[in-house]
Amino acid sequence: MIKLTATAKVAAFTKNQAIVIGVKSVSKKLQLVEHTIDSAWLSELNLEALGASAKAESIIRVSAPNGSVVALIGVGNDELDEDNLRELAGAAARALGSIENIVFDLPTSDARDAAAILEGAALGQYELTTYKGTDSTGSIKTKSVTVVSAHKVSAAAIAKVNIVVESIRATRDLVNTPPNVLFPAAFANIVAKRVKPLNLEVQVWDEKALAKDGFGGILAVGGGSSRPPRLVKIDYRPKGAKKHLALVGKGITFDSGGLSLKPAEGMVGMKYDMTGAATVFEALVTIAKLALPVHVTAWLCLAENMPSGTAQRPNDIIKVRNGKTIEVLNTDAEGRLVLADGLSAASEEKPDLIIDVATLTGAATIALGNRYAGLMGTSEAISAVEAAAFDTGELVWHMPLPAELRSLLNSDLADIANVKIGNRAGGMLIAGLFLREFIGFADKRNEKKIEWAHLDIAGPANNDAAPYGHTTKGGTGVMLRTLVSVAEGMAR
Ligand code: BES
Ligand code: ZN
Ligand code: ZN
Repeated sequence: MIKLTATAKVAAFTKNQAIVIGVKSVSKKLQLVEHTIDSAWLSELNLEALGASAKAESIIRVSAPNGSVVALIGVGNDELDEDNLRELAGAAARALGSIENIVFDLPTSDARDAAAILEGAALGQYELTTYKGTDSTGSIKTKSVTVVSAHKVSAAAIAKVNIVVESIRATRDLVNTPPNVLFPAAFANIVAKRVKPLNLEVQVWDEKALAKDGFGGILAVGGGSSRPPRLVKIDYRPKGAKKHLALVGKGITFDSGGLSLKPAEGMVGMKYDMTGAATVFEALVTIAKLALPVHVTAWLCLAENMPSGTAQRPNDIIKVRNGKTIEVLNTDAEGRLVLADGLSAASEEKPDLIIDVATLTGAATIALGNRYAGLMGTSEAISAVEAAAFDTGELVWHMPLPAELRSLLNSDLADIANVKIGNRAGGMLIAGLFLREFIGFADKRNEKKIEWAHLDIAGPANNDAAPYGHTTKGGTGVMLRTLVSVAEGMAR
């Protein structure tokens, strides 16, 4: 892992070092953004002639004294706040992976700004080389990242950045792992190994236990695969916790669609249909490592959705954990079936808040594009997640759960159907309405529902376009920081 440090003053222009300095445009002329390094050589650079630009994230390298490098990065027109600094640092770090020591000399207004720079840089330098065969050397040679700031960044703040970054990288690793390698039991084994040194409780339901305990949704979806499904529950129970947060993740290790088979192009990328499970798991790991005083339970609903002679059929009726029956009209709407079990089980413990995370619908990307997560649920939960997302600079958008759409899911035989055949309107919202049926009550008299938020991350979970900011190609690890921030809020 890259070593992250903060310093008030840096020895400029040393070998194997790149110093990152901002470039802005003031009355159509390029200018260096305020920095600490005092150097005539630097101030005399002809920015226009060098081809520097103020456009956000555009970057050029200039050969500097003593064999060092100055990297000039455009900062755009927006205010250089924490979120922009995190993104700029990510972009710079991606461009400077060949350099051993990267130093950021950008303006910071407080220690949070400085920490965000370190965080963005470490996230931007993610790569996975495990699956290279003959060419297995990675492109990233950076050993250290230093932020120059007059504001003292505490050791605890740097430790937090390291913990968060490590978990986001682990999430990306899981998402990027090919589906021949990552199947439900393999995922459960990875979880068991990772939590061992952390002293967390883990419970794994195999297919026999799932049947015994009534998890008909996970079983039905996993039934078509030769590699059976799993439900994994991880508990972090610190002393003194007053609040209980339940996290439920969709963990489809590959979504072929099942018998309602996806077309060839639609199937590519469906290894990332387990991102929700990876995200909630690594969020719990982060929260545990940070020792936040909140009881957190993660429920990973793991299955491989495959067509076969043992696969579920359209028109099958299944019964899930809370006793409700579901008529399966499209086996490709499988995420909601495994989540029906996960949300039911999570509800049994009556936590203060349930958040589920899922690459649930293609409709989410139609509505919101690839950078925003769709957010639905109860009002207090929505406020908590919105505040947390704002705090971390992640993008969520509150979507409605329109009551009139619920009747589209009426089934003649079962309590509910999993889709309305032929309907294309409001796909993300209908999925949200479906999930709501599996949220239990907070009180004994069944009057108040448990606070619940649903994050549809089908868009931002995976980036198959060019990298931007600290977001690399492939799995992004989005929403992990938001979930951790929600837990921080509950700990206060
Ligand atoms: N995993 C998909 C959703 C998805 C699609 C995520 C594209 C990321 C990119 C999900 O299981 C699915 O197939 N949903 C169907 C639901 C439909 C049958 C109601 C969809 O979105 O088409
Ligand atoms: Zn599907
Ligand atoms: Zn799916």
